[in-house]
Amino acid sequence: MSGGDKLDFEIRPNPAPVSATDRAALLVNPGFGRVFTDHMVTVRYADGKGWYDARVEARAPIPMDPASAVLHYAQEIFEGLKAYRTADGGVTMFRPDANAARFVASAQRMAMPALPPEVFIDSLHKLIEVDREWIPTGADGSLYLRPFMFASEVFLGVRPANEYLYMVIASPVGAYFSGGVKPVTVWVSPDYTRAAPGGTGAAKCGGNYAASLAAQAEAIEAGCDQVVFLDAVERRFVDELGGMNVFFVYDDDTVVTPPLTGTILPGITRDAVLTLAGAAGHRVEERPVTFADWQADAASGRLREVFACGTAAVITPIGGVRFPDGEFLIGGGEPGRVTMALRQQLVDIQRGKADDPQGWVRRVL
Ligand code: PLP
Ligand code: COI
Repeated sequence: MSGGDKLDFEIRPNPAPVSATDRAALLVNPGFGRVFTDHMVTVRYADGKGWYDARVEARAPIPMDPASAVLHYAQEIFEGLKAYRTADGGVTMFRPDANAARFVASAQRMAMPALPPEVFIDSLHKLIEVDREWIPTGADGSLYLRPFMFASEVFLGVRPANEYLYMVIASPVGAYFSGGVKPVTVWVSPDYTRAAPGGTGAAKCGGNYAASLAAQAEAIEAGCDQVVFLDAVERRFVDELGGMNVFFVYDDDTVVTPPLTGTILPGITRDAVLTLAGAAGHRVEERPVTFADWQADAASGRLREVFACGTAAVITPIGGVRFPDGEFLIGGGEPGRVTMALRQQLVDIQRGKADDPQGWVRRVL
């Protein structure tokens, strides 16, 4: 069936999967994004034909014509979400419908065809089913799912392509930061911005990440873990990190995060944290925060905690902030109480250890 909201996936098992012994060795300490499963999903799209040729097949290099549009004009989007192993041996995903919806929104911004959410979610189920043995069992382990789509048309003209390839690969992962949940230090970039009004900041497109790399390299150079971007117009307001949203916790029990004005990614973890913080009795505000206030409130002690959040990072405390003129600590560089409580609550819901009143967890197996 093609062009509809449902596709039948053809399953072609990998004839030479990684052996159980080698897989077990790879799963001991997989890090982030270095180890991959035996299979991948591919679905094709052509104008006039719609979505077709949905497959789960052996993970392998994909042949590409050097004139494939994505290699020149970067018409590409992606998603990131995790599958978890539950205590009873089952498998769940966290809010895949939200990722499916964001994938549609990203596609619209990048002038790409919308993948029906049903196909997106089905593709994840199909891949998890064949690669279920790759889901780590440890407390921090999960299977990171990376759906993505790019312009595959062979054409050098600058216009939306008329052929696309949607794929999903999967990677068993541990903690994103090598220190685990230890507080990270962030670098406030003085020169680089990530996204301007009217730009692509709210879309999850590869180009945003390419644009962040020089700033991220600067952060590493300065001994930091991640870059923080300020707004592109006034260079005063805190937008987000290179790959995470940011939250501030004040001494009056207010939990604050910058608003979704189109320049930051609408994080699914961010949305969950807003709900969880509100339910825990904190006053929750989406409002702009200037870097000047961040500094002043850290100095006065009014700002108690700052944390980063995202699928890969879950909730990670930010203990230190550096910028060209100086540096300061948050909460003495130690993880904050509110940060760690929210983290525990989120992780417990994701792993099926706590009630899920919002219905965020989707059972796969
Ligand atoms: N901001 C950016 C730039 C990201 O890359 C991510 C990660 O996906 C996030 C925020 C957090 O989004 P989510 O919580 O949906 O993973
Ligand atoms: C994610 O959290 O899924 C991301 O895409 C962020 C990236 C830094 C890995």
